[in-house]
This record gives sequence, C-alpha cells and structure tokens, in this order.
Amino acid sequence: MTDAHTEPLAQRYTAVRQHSLALSSALTPEDQCVQSMPDASPTKWHLAHTTWFFETLVLQSHVPAYSVHDARYAPLFNSYYESLGPRHPRPQRGLLTRPSLAEVHAYRSAVDSAMLRLIEGPLMQAAGESKLHLLIELGLQHEQQHQELLLTDALHLMSLNPLRPAVMPGAEPSWLSLHALDGESERTPPGAWLDQAGGGIDIGHVGAHFAFDNETPRHRVWVEPHAIARELVTNADFQGFIDDGGYRCASLWLSEGWQAVQALGWAAPLHWLEDGLEFTLQGAQPRQPGQPVRHLSFFEAAAYAEWAGARLPTEFEWESAATGPTPPDHAFGQVWQWTRSSYDPYPRFRPLAGAVGEYNGKFMVGQMVLRGSSLATPPDHARATYRNFFPPATRWQFTGLRLAKDL
Ligand SMILES: [Fe+2]
Repeated sequence: MTDAHTEPLAQRYTAVRQHSLALSSALTPEDQCVQSMPDASPTKWHLAHTTWFFETLVLQSHVPAYSVHDARYAPLFNSYYESLGPRHPRPQRGLLTRPSLAEVHAYRSAVDSAMLRLIEGPLMQAAGESKLHLLIELGLQHEQQHQELLLTDALHLMSLNPLRPAVMPGAEPSWLSLHALDGESERTPPGAWLDQAGGGIDIGHVGAHFAFDNETPRHRVWVEPHAIARELVTNADFQGFIDDGGYRCASLWLSEGWQAVQALGWAAPLHWLEDGLEFTLQGAQPRQPGQPVRHLSFFEAAAYAEWAGARLPTEFEWESAATGPTPPDHAFGQVWQWTRSSYDPYPRFRPLAGAVGEYNGKFMVGQMVLRGSSLATPPDHARATYRNFFPPATRWQFTGLRLAKDL
C-alpha cells in the first residue's frame, strides 16, 4: 500500500474500498451474516456500514443531485449517530439476513461510482475542496478501522465453530506476513529497558496530515523519570504468569478484573487452545513462544505487569518513547498495547462540528487507551499519536502489552 498522504484521492479511495472486499473474500455468505456476540458485527454489516458512512456524510450532504441507493438502509447501517436518525439494535445486526450479501455488494458498487464521480468532478475543485477532501479521508480512515474489526469479529465467530475454519486460509494481506516475527531470532535479551529522563513532553498530533480529533490538540504533559520495555511481552513470558498461578492470585488483580476472572472463568488469553495451539486468522496454529502475547484484556495486562514487578506505561510515556531517538522494538504492526491511561479528552479538545462530532468524543468514559497498532491494522493507518480505546474487559482485539517501571 502506498503512502496515504501522497496517493491521488481516487486511487486511494479505490484501493481502500477494494481491500475490504479482499479481506472478506474467503468468507461464505453465511459466514458474513452471523454475529458472534453483541460487541462484534457481521462482515456484511461492516461492508454496508462503511458504505452508508460515505453515502450519508459525503454524498447526501455534498452532492445535490444524489439519489439515495435504498432509503430503507439508513436505520440498518447507522451505527451510533444520534443526529442521523433511528438505528437497528446493535446486538441484532446478525438477524439482518436481508439485504443479501449480493445486495450489499451492489450497494457498495453504486456508492463507489457516485464517490468517484464526485472525487473526479468539478465539486472537488470548488471552494471548500480541502474540507471535502478531509471528510472523504475521514471516511477512508473509518473504513480502515472497520477492516481491522472485520477481521477480529470474523476471527471470534470462527473461534466458536468446532470445525475451526480460517478467516484467511493461505492468502493473507501483505502486511500480515510482513509483520510476522521470525521466531526467536529477532529477540533482544529479556529485561532490556529504555530509560526515559522524563520532564515536559509534547503530546498529540500537529501538522497537515490526517489525524482523528481525539489526537488533538497537541499539548504539554509532565512525566516522571521512568523506563519502558524495549520488547513486547511474549507468549512465553505470559505462560510464566499462568504457570505461577497468576489467574488464581487475587492480590495481582484490580477488583473489577478479579471479578471478571471469577465470573468468566479466564485462565489464559482468548483464543489459546489445547496442546500449545492458538486460534489465528489462519485457523488453529502452534503457539510461538517468542511472539507477542495477544487477546488480553486490560485487566490481564495489568495483572501481568503487577506479577512482573512493573506497571503499564501511560499513553504519554508510550508516545514519548515511540517518537524519541531510541524507540522500542515493534511499537507498531504486532499488537495494540494497553496503557494505564483512561480515554479522556486532551486539554481544550473540541469534537469536529456536525454529525462527525459523534465519532470519538462521546465515548470518552469507561475505556482505556491502547497505543501502537496490530498485525491487522493497515500500515498506513498507524501513527505514533493514534489513540485506540476499548473497555477494560475487551479481549477479542489483537491486544497485548509492553511493561514500564518508575526510575
Ligand atoms: Fe463505524
């Protein structure tokens, strides 16, 4: 994939949209309709919802002659935008056997044609072109977020099938193999720490390149002297926690986390299988000891850090290290890394105007920030200021951790 910042918009639009279809190409129509849990969405819904986003926020708002593809779709594929009308209940997305997958593909094609006419037409040249360009880029970044969700949601669905079907048998997007670690060979000695002097550091996005509103405004944060682990915590590391009785030792856990362990019977990361196997996008595969551990909740990450005599980094410590002269290894492209930071607005944060203001700001309570990016994140979607966020019990994303400690 080429650089999001230099590629012509029409070319970038087409590449991102086609990529969603490529990711789902090994899934049957039945696979693409089912919803495995209320937090997850069917593949078909992701394909339709990302299309609805362009149709509603770009075409309907900016192309006077645009005729809606099917007016009945709006409540089905509106996710959470209160200002854009009523919505089908999220836990019931898997009941939408209609429209069919073929109809959703036709919806995508129709909206793509209209979008490309817009991108290459006179409206884009008129006043406000940069604003419209930014809105289309937001739609593309939104679709890239859903590409990762499409994979993690399908992985969760397949993990519940005793046949253990692969989401992506054989063929996988280039970045997935690109980021695969080569066993133990790339590991630096365990316990390698990167000392950070601390002080006043500048945090957040600045500049002309795209960023979500939650990454702004750039502001100054004070951090104390600390160290951040060069490496991510691995499967072998986490096996040590399990073998030492980590899941049975209440004193390692936050109260809410310990309740989750008891109520949900957690005894290993999600997708760990018997006989040293784990469930991956390629189906059941041998668990690699040197690979970063993934599918952990924030609670498990925090308990591991406590067991290891360390702590999780704050999101500010993470960003400072990732942008510093000696960044930690594998900051991106492996697992999202839980931080000890609540998902809060930055000082002087203002959501975008209009319906897109509902994109991030209204979720700033009860969630923890994750930094970096995962093996399922499109590489041109990752950046050092990116703030991912999930509730602390979330395990079905590609989530792991890196340690930090005070100096
Ligand atoms: Fe969305």
